[in-house]
Amino acid sequence: LAATDYQAEDALISQGTVATNHTGYTGTGFVDYTNVKGSSVEFTVSAAAAGPASLTLRYANGTTTDRPMDLAVNGTVAAPAVSFPATTDWNTWATKTVNVQLKAGTNAIRARATTDHGGPNLDRLSL
Ligand code: GCU
Ligand code: CA
Repeated sequence: LAATDYQAEDALISQGTVATNHTGYTGTGFVDYTNVKGSSVEFTVSAAAAGPASLTLRYANGTTTDRPMDLAVNGTVAAPAVSFPATTDWNTWATKTVNVQLKAGTNAIRARATTDHGGPNLDRLSL
């Protein structure tokens, strides 16, 4: 089954902005998280059936410092402090995949920065 892409710039952004000042993103831009703890992006995704799902986040981190985020599913942290390590520069994108359980129908997936550095730049979620 082909993955469905959910663009970060179309998601619910809390303490972040849509940006286009680096290359290599998909869609119309990416989310530049405000560099504070708690900045977040929440995706509304659809699952055909309840069960395990692999979530792949495409991100860039042009610093030398990890930008960990909690991944919450429907309000509960399913994967705490997931590592988003350096990607050489802000034009270089990498992916991080995490396995979670979804319910059938609509699910809220939130990626929330756990440190004062904020999150990495976030391009999209695929599942
Ligand atoms: C730079 C970069 C941004 C990035 C920011 C950060 O300003 O241009 O895209 O979000 O650093 O450190 O978070
Ligand atoms: Ca930022």
